Amino acid sequence: MKAAKKLMKVLVTTRLPEEGLKILSSSGVCDVCTWDLGASMPREELLKGVQGAHGVLCLLTDKIDSEVMDAAGPNLKVISTLSVGYDHLDLNEIKKRGIRVGYTPDVLTDATAELTVALLLATARRLPEAMTEVKNGGWGSWSLFWMCGYGLSGSTVGVIGLGRIGMAIARRLMPFGVKRLLYSGRTEKADAAELNGEFVPLDTLVSESDFVVVSCSLTPETHGLCDKAFFSKMKKTGIFINSSRGAVVNQDDLYQALKSGQIAAAGLDVTTPEPLPTDHPLLTLKNCVVLPHIGSANYSTRGTMATLAARNLLGGLQGTEMPSELKV
Ligand code: NDP
Ligand code: DGY
Repeated sequence: MKAAKKLMKVLVTTRLPEEGLKILSSSGVCDVCTWDLGASMPREELLKGVQGAHGVLCLLTDKIDSEVMDAAGPNLKVISTLSVGYDHLDLNEIKKRGIRVGYTPDVLTDATAELTVALLLATARRLPEAMTEVKNGGWGSWSLFWMCGYGLSGSTVGVIGLGRIGMAIARRLMPFGVKRLLYSGRTEKADAAELNGEFVPLDTLVSESDFVVVSCSLTPETHGLCDKAFFSKMKKTGIFINSSRGAVVNQDDLYQALKSGQIAAAGLDVTTPEPLPTDHPLLTLKNCVVLPHIGSANYSTRGTMATLAARNLLGGLQGTEMPSELKV
């Protein structure tokens, strides 16, 4: 008689769509424990649920640090995050323990770039404010400068972090008639030549751009990058857009810059914390548009991300190739 094969334990910290779950359950290699009481797993539940796990499929809201890895114990082979950002993972600790990491680059690039362009246009042309005026009776007779904003045509756009998403944002913005594309980062990008992108020091980008778009990853170097000194170098008519991570921005400094008219407006898809408390000072400003971290939020993109995260997890469990492995 053949002994029944022992399945590996997998913790999935959110309710995965059917296609993602099917990949795991039909593999015959793992037993899936899913957190389905809400969008994300409370920390205490995560610490309990991860015990003995061989694999974890997590979200960007799950901080995976040594406490979680200790709680999981020595079985843990793979962490698959359903995100391209991985600032919530303690990579040093992961590397020390020889754990593999999967993430979801590329599949969300278009969705996030599209949302960032929508946010930029909504901020520059004051769409939320204008819609509010229609609803609250502020719409009077057509008037020359009422609800005027700033346009892309003839402008200079500066992208901080011309990676996958940064480049996709730039490609979408250029056809609006952008005159100059500046970018900054650690390395010059060959791709940028197709858009005549100029690799410039951060200070040049900040002071010469009409639109500053942040799309870099959150690292110790980019943490708090956009602070008082940064905003003080921007044009008074400058628009600041961030769809990377909230912690790249010093929000108190941003608030002061917006309130004092140091810069014209800001559009944020990401904040610190998330959710941003409803009484946060930024939400009192008409020239600040805040979205609830929806860069990749279209149905098909999220489905593809879930499928990719499941495949990554399976590769890590089986010791085979992962479709998108992060080299730690
Ligand atoms: P990439 O790795 O392709 O791009 C990240 C870019 O950040 C790289 O070009 C990198 O430059 C740059 N960078 C790193 N360090 C610095 C620095 N010190 N100064 C300036 N630039 C720097 O990642 P993606 O484009 O795929 O994703 C970018 C980020 O977007 C993710 O990390 C995530 O945080 C965020 N994101 C947000 C979403 C949302 O819903 N709002 C959705 C998806 C992603 P270099 O190549 O020179 O190192
Ligand atoms: C990511 O993937 O890093 C985003 O923030 C959510 O899609």
